[in-house]
Amino acid sequence: MSREPALEVRAVSKWFGAVQALDQVSLRLGQSEILALLGDNGAGKSTLIKCISGVHRPDVGDVLIDGEPVELRSSADARRSGIETVYQDLALFDNLSPAANFFAGREETRGSWLGPFALLKEKAMASHTEELIHRLKVNVPARVGLVGLMSGGQRQGVAVARAAAFASKVVILDEPTAALGVRESRAVLDVVRELPKAGVAVIMISHNLEDVLSVADRAVVMRRGRIVGEEVPTEETHERLVGLIVKG
Ligand SMILES: Nc1ncnc2c1ncn2[C@@H]1O[C@H](COP(=O)(O)OP(=O)(O)OP(=O)(O)O)[C@@H](O)[C@H]1O
Ligand SMILES: [Mg+2]
Repeated sequence: MSREPALEVRAVSKWFGAVQALDQVSLRLGQSEILALLGDNGAGKSTLIKCISGVHRPDVGDVLIDGEPVELRSSADARRSGIETVYQDLALFDNLSPAANFFAGREETRGSWLGPFALLKEKAMASHTEELIHRLKVNVPARVGLVGLMSGGQRQGVAVARAAAFASKVVILDEPTAALGVRESRAVLDVVRELPKAGVAVIMISHNLEDVLSVADRAVVMRRGRIVGEEVPTEETHERLVGLIVKG
């Protein structure tokens, strides 16, 4: 395994018109590390992860994977580099089943050469999806339901399962438990904890410090587009983290 950080952001700045959303942000994510990204509303957290996942291009600065600078022009680019992201504003298709959502945008891996076997492949997809969703203890009628008919928590479960299944390098979760009940939150956090065992590092944005305390190796706090501090999350550093979030 490389000793370089799994992912590094160097002096990234991003403007939206006159608004500077990111101001010289630098961040390192260790191999198999679980990093929490904290900060108040509008701090720049989602913008930062969108710069890592190919949704936004940084105006200034670099993104490196395993120590190599990369140019991620799209989320498909990021996926090819092993980075899977669950966005705050969930990108699922309402008119597709969970199984079809699972593989949406990955048709290249299915391959039209399958010809008469395509139907079998579809069946395999559906059962693979069901198995993963079951592991996440998300209560979803995987074969029948359309995602549009699912609750926020069920949708979140499908999205997290999809990211965990496909990531080879980094999983990025933007508020993964915000819409979830206690039981479903716990199941998502269990999956997060397992990812490092497969060599996958995690960036998790959260407003829930209890969640952060229970899974993260390190917590970085953003405020007004800058990183203002970091701590190893423990009972002892809890107050300091709250202070950093509120006052920067
Ligand atoms: N697409 C966009 N166009 C214009 N401004 C944007 C866009 N995305 C974000 N911003 C602005 O950039 C700043 C940072 O927003 P961002 O969404 O990154 O914050 P956040 O830390 O994720 O907040 P929250 O906790 O509310 O999700 C805000 O001032 C926001 O209004
Ligand atoms: Mg956000």
